[in-house]
Order: sequence, then C-alpha cells, then structure tokens
Amino acid sequence: MKIFIDSGNLQDIRSLVPLGIIDGITTNPSLLAKESGDPRQLLKEICTLVRGPVSAEVVATDTDGMVREGRELAAIDKHIVVKVPFGKEGLKACRTLTGEGHRVNVTLVFSPSQALLAAKVGASYVSPFVGRLDDISTSGMELVGQIVEIFQNYEFGTEVLVASTRHALHIVEAARMGADICTCPPAVIESLFKHPLTDIGLERFLKDWEKAQAARR
Ligand code: E4P
Repeated sequence: MKIFIDSGNLQDIRSLVPLGIIDGITTNPSLLAKESGDPRQLLKEICTLVRGPVSAEVVATDTDGMVREGRELAAIDKHIVVKVPFGKEGLKACRTLTGEGHRVNVTLVFSPSQALLAAKVGASYVSPFVGRLDDISTSGMELVGQIVEIFQNYEFGTEVLVASTRHALHIVEAARMGADICTCPPAVIESLFKHPLTDIGLERFLKDWEKAQAARR
C-alpha cells in the first residue's frame, strides 16, 4: 500500500521524504491556507520534493470554473493530480479533465455509491474520508471495505485513497482491506515508528552489550 503525506507543510514533507516510505502528497484548501506564501508556488516546490502524485484541490464550485482551475493546477507540474469535490459539478469536471489526460482525485467521498460514480467518470483516485465518518459515529473503515469490494468486481482503474486518517489503526485496516493508498497527517506517520517494546528492547540490548564489554575489560 502506498503512503501519502496529507500536508502542505514543507518542513514536514522534507523530514519524512528521506525515510523512503512516502509515495505522494495530498493537500486541500484548509491545509494550504495554514501555510504562508503563494499556494501555487508552494505546490510547485512540493512537486520537487516528492516525485509522486501531488493532489491540488480546486476551489471553484461550478464545472467550468473547476475545469479552468484544474487545467491551471495541472500546468504547475506533471506530478499534480487535480482534486475535485464529489457532486454533479465535480463529476462533470472530472470527466472533462480526465478526457484531456489529467489525473483527477474525487474528494469528500462518504458513501460507496459516490465512489462508484466517481470511478465511472474516470477518476484516478477516490478519497473516502474515514476519520470524519468516525467523528459522526459511522465506521469509516467499513466504507473503505465496501469501495474496495465494489472496485474488485470491475476494471475501473480507480485507486482507493483512504483519507482523513487519524491513527495507525486506520492504516493497518486499510492495508488489510487492500486499499491502494493511505494519506496521513505527518503526526500519524511519525506514530508508525513508535512502539514502547521496540524502545525497551533496544535499551536492554545496548545495556547487556555494555555490561559484557565492561566485564571483559
Ligand atoms: C484528503 O485528501 C484530505 O486532505 C484529508 O485527508 C482530510 O482530512 P481531515 O478530515 O483530517 O481534514
């Protein structure tokens, strides 16, 4: 399963990319709004750091505006994937943009039928938001399982990009279900490296080694 960073923060991206586990980036208007400077310049810079897909979301709400903005975003760098919100306008924009050869990520997916419609219009990625569903006491991971199952029945070529992840368990469950990608906030990726037994184990190995060395002296 591919792991993307869900962030527009250059410092976070720079610190995680060298680990060799990062396959791409997702951003959204809220994430980019947190960063200073010109968002398009920032996206350009992100594309130089990660040689994988970088999702950049349109803010227009009508099809023509989304298509226009999508073309502009795609022109920033060949790694840009245009993100459009699910809905009639978004799906029409998705169809036009994919017809022009651009990759589109249909975002704000909260039901399996929405994912199915996005796949039908040629989306390269669908983004089910698991954490936001969990927040309203509905299982986000159950939705992912349903989408994976539906996509296995057909040959859409649309990848399931699990979004709005909040913790390591979301990532483990997504991988068990066969989701293609998990996009995670930097803190969630950092948490994948932490296990108290690993720390305790390493401390003990080093202590035992030191003790044996001292006894030999
Ligand atoms: C996905 O591409 C979105 O950027 C993101 O995962 C949303 O997550 P949130 O629910 O934590 O805002």
